[in-house]
Amino acid sequence: MKQEIGKKRIIIAIDGPAASGKSTTARKVAERLGYTYIDTGAMYRSVALKALDQGVLGGLRNSPEGVSALLQDISIRFDGDRIFLDGSDVTAGIRENRVSREVSFISSLKPVRDRLRVMQQDLGRQRGVVMDGRDIGTVVFPDAELKIFLVADARKRAERRYAELVAKSPEGVDLPDLDLLEEEIMRRDRDDAEREHAPLKKHAEAYEIDTSDLTIERQVDIVYHLALEKEVKGQ
Ligand code: DC
Repeated sequence: MKQEIGKKRIIIAIDGPAASGKSTTARKVAERLGYTYIDTGAMYRSVALKALDQGVLGGLRNSPEGVSALLQDISIRFDGDRIFLDGSDVTAGIRENRVSREVSFISSLKPVRDRLRVMQQDLGRQRGVVMDGRDIGTVVFPDAELKIFLVADARKRAERRYAELVAKSPEGVDLPDLDLLEEEIMRRDRDDAEREHAPLKKHAEAYEIDTSDLTIERQVDIVYHLALEKEVKGQ
């Protein structure tokens, strides 16, 4: 991609709790800037899917050190909007509920975080990336030129998840109720924020944006304009 004179391609780190609007914002900001979007949650989900498919999750809860075997030859690759785990397209599989339930546990394991952090740092080396997750501004790219921390109240986030489920579920499928979704979201927030390794935390330099009452367009606009400022050479 051609670089405008006086501008540099930067790294944008977007962190925040589940369903705070990170991935939609990150994808649209990347599109507008001509950057690459990297969804690090999808990478943790891929490891959880692999553990589930190999039937080793129960065993890992008792002896987490076994996770090294799972990571040994793992390959995770993005191709546009699709993600490939060990050569297979798992774009749909990683969004299944069984994966969402187990991913916080998998992402609490240090060997998993160490391995994925290195992969993420490699992916960011080209610069011109928008990366979203929980620890991008604090651990993966603490030097990212722009760090964003998105928050939104839990009920609003549950409502968004619900609307997403309604939109993509075939008619007649039972949907979880809103209270249950809110409870699940709060449990995941707690697990992600209280874990020992790389917990969800706002970096001191991060811009905090509360998206509870913002439209997607507005939140994209805010991040996009901050990015333009940071792209200007010397910032
Ligand atoms: O953003 P998401 O819901 O797809 O993320 C799935 C899980 O992965 C989430 O519960 C926490 C974990 N995660 C993480 O620990 N660190 C990241 N950088 C991204 C996700």
